[in-house]
Amino acid sequence: MRPEDPADEGRTLLQAAYAIQARAHAPYSGFRVGAALLDEQGRLHVGVNVENASYGLTLCAERVAVFNAIAAGARRIRALGVVGHSGRPLPPCGACRQVLAELADPDCSIWLDGGTAGPQRHTLSALLPLAFQAAELMDPSSLP
Ligand code: THU
Repeated sequence: MRPEDPADEGRTLLQAAYAIQARAHAPYSGFRVGAALLDEQGRLHVGVNVENASYGLTLCAERVAVFNAIAAGARRIRALGVVGHSGRPLPPCGACRQVLAELADPDCSIWLDGGTAGPQRHTLSALLPLAFQAAELMDPSSLP
């Protein structure tokens, strides 16, 4: 599945994110998040946030979706949708942006639930300019 119209792609991803959101394990924050992504083969993968009594171990829905995709054999992430339930677009946290930068192209679409204003589309490079990437590790001039 790889919809031609970018708006169709956004609707597909956000619908899948809403469909999975109820499975979040969020007993501490009560904030349920759903995420869905398309891989390089057009396959859909989903994730929800998974909290833990040791709070810092919590994983965001976006990273769960990414790790699910990789475990299912995906190599690249083409587009991602994420929804919360604040009635506002839910921007991915910085840690998730960094994980996406490893596995998605800079022009990867990030679709956010738009609340009453409708869905928003951003690109990964707009959400995380100048991302730290593997190339930095190979360049001796970048070492301290
Ligand atoms: N959360 C996500 O799943 N994705 C985000 O982009 C931001 C935050 C989760 C983590 C935690 O379970 C809850 O939302 C409150 O921070």
